[in-house]
Amino acid sequence: MTIQRSVSELKRISSACMLVKSVLDELENATAPGVKTKDLDRIARERIIKEGGRPAFLGYRGYPASLCVSVNEEVVHGIPGERRLEDGDIVSLDVGAVVDGYYGDGARTVVAGKASVEAERLIRVTREALWKAIEECHVGKRVGDIGYAIEQHALRNGYSTVREYAGHGIGTSLHEEPQIPNCGPPGRRERLLTGMCLALEPMINVGESAVHVLKDGWTAVTNDAGLSAHFELAVAVTSEGPWVLEEKYPYGDRLVSNA
Ligand code: MF3
Ligand code: CO
Repeated sequence: MTIQRSVSELKRISSACMLVKSVLDELENATAPGVKTKDLDRIARERIIKEGGRPAFLGYRGYPASLCVSVNEEVVHGIPGERRLEDGDIVSLDVGAVVDGYYGDGARTVVAGKASVEAERLIRVTREALWKAIEECHVGKRVGDIGYAIEQHALRNGYSTVREYAGHGIGTSLHEEPQIPNCGPPGRRERLLTGMCLALEPMINVGESAVHVLKDGWTAVTNDAGLSAHFELAVAVTSEGPWVLEEKYPYGDRLVSNA
């Protein structure tokens, strides 16, 4: 069952998402050639705790860190460690935080140093796909419309979307119903209702769609070793339209009790 959150709950999820945004801003600034991925994990963990939150990923199903750092052909769930970033690496930073029992989750792909033209294009197209997905988050649309918007934008640009991982509902757990695949067909799956909170997370590959998990049990990589990018934002469906929860409610003071 998909949960419709009250306004007070949406505000608390939004607080967690704002914390995630501030962590991602700091991580983006810190991402540079020579930096170890475990340094980024430490920054994320310390910042979350300093702001009164708890890292949502640490210990989740045994995940050993507060941050996922997925470099180049790594798609998602890269475990931070001794690896040093190199000039031109594309780096997906994915972080979750719990504040007051409510979850925030977000990701963005950034460049260490200077990236190739193709890498920059992949990152731009993936960010655009996320915003096209957000634009689908209106009452009465369906989850399939979100996935279709992502998939079409990828295909139009000659890319593919990852099928094995999906976006998800978010609120009092990291992963709630519904699952939000990064593909269509449109007009199918759950109908969007006011108060639903959805973490949208397009994962887009330059080459083929297929991925597999490395022996560490977490890191997903593309089968063809082509580049992959990933962006994630949590959005609430409101009667006025989509609310990107890391930002202030954008529709004035009309946030009413049934959202
Ligand atoms: N943003 C990812 C997701 O929603 C990250 C989860 S990593 C995990 O699935 F370690 F928490 F599993
Ligand atoms: Co997520």
